[in-house]
Amino acid sequence: MQATHSVYHNYFGQFGGRYVAEVLRTPLDLLEEEFAEAMEDPGFQREFDTIADQFVGRPTPLLYAENTTREIGGAQLYIKMEGLAHTGAHKINNAVGQALLARRMGKTRIIAETGAGQHGVATAAVCAKLGLECRVYMGEIDIRRQKPNVFWMQMYGAEVVPVTSGSRTLKDAVNEALRDWAHSFPETHYVIGSALGPSPYPDMVREFQSVVGRETRQQVEAAGLEVAALVACVGGGSNAIGFFAPYLDQPEPRLVGVEAGGTGDQPGRHAARMGGLGTPGIVQGYKSLFLLDEDGQVQPTHSISAGLDYPGIGPQLASLGASGRVEFRRARDQQALDAVGRFARNEGVVFALESAHGGAAALQLAAELPPHQAVVVNMSGRGDKDLFIMAGELDRRAWREFLLSEGDRL
Ligand SMILES: Cc1ncc(COP(=O)(O)O)c(C=O)c1O
Repeated sequence: MQATHSVYHNYFGQFGGRYVAEVLRTPLDLLEEEFAEAMEDPGFQREFDTIADQFVGRPTPLLYAENTTREIGGAQLYIKMEGLAHTGAHKINNAVGQALLARRMGKTRIIAETGAGQHGVATAAVCAKLGLECRVYMGEIDIRRQKPNVFWMQMYGAEVVPVTSGSRTLKDAVNEALRDWAHSFPETHYVIGSALGPSPYPDMVREFQSVVGRETRQQVEAAGLEVAALVACVGGGSNAIGFFAPYLDQPEPRLVGVEAGGTGDQPGRHAARMGGLGTPGIVQGYKSLFLLDEDGQVQPTHSISAGLDYPGIGPQLASLGASGRVEFRRARDQQALDAVGRFARNEGVVFALESAHGGAAALQLAAELPPHQAVVVNMSGRGDKDLFIMAGELDRRAWREFLLSEGDRL
């Protein structure tokens, strides 16, 4: 691993910063110091690379989506198969980096928040591997939507704590984790799962996720591709910023972030913060664009995917959107579902619902571009975790019958 940026930012244009209660300043200062040292330490980098290789299963492949490309007749479509990483998504890259950092700082306990559960599962698995105690905060609604991931977290020995406050989803889980950390930091590290939160988290998460972008760059160069665009879904923004990281300081290729368009542009029906729908604000310790009502309160959001319904966007992506380096699109719930089906039938690959938002936009982009160019989409996760949502959408009756018969069997 090598740093993609020699200077860490804290602020990205007007966004970012560290707006926290006094009690959290010390742990954040210490974390920033340790992170900067670790990034310069070849020993830390070796540890990260070894776990990435043996435990995570890196490098993940770059797959030519040959049948879909033929069907579209436009640019060549490639899929970065990040969902093949251990525990099923990109989240493990950051979990490994932060857990190694925690161990280096002498911490014995890890806390995390999770939405779709992928970050929770990744953190729980890494904690099992490194012998760290693990507690994961998860909104009650997400617990219901992503039950299989709750099971896996517990299987890895983590304690999953249901969050019953607010909208009972990801943002409430972040609040609960911050509350825990405020009194537990001497022995506890808080592993934030996306490129957001008070500094140094956005810098840290980008660096640990940039392994995805660096690998992709090597793979497209080795294949001699003319890449016109890189496409990634954006919840908090960790897979997108890691995927884009090696290309941020140059004008090309196009970098396209795809937000959850839900079922419409009205408040409460989507989770898109860019394109004029978000408002600048300070929430959960950092300044960025958030979905807020006229009183400045965080609005409810909706997405078919539990990992894309966070009401804020990571500060670096908000800034890159303002400067125009990253363009943003939206995919509706139905477009994401359609993309899952199309890639499954054409390529034998099942995208996670989050990643399928990127998949939907990549299908559109490929159709707009000529055949000598390539579009690469980051399949940030695989769809196994979404079985309970997708099976119900595909054939509700058959799925209900199956679930009832399983219930009878118990
Ligand atoms: C597979 C997958 N992709 C994407 C996301 C969105 O997070 P981020 O924007 O930080 O990559 C999640 C979040 O849970 C996820 O599970």
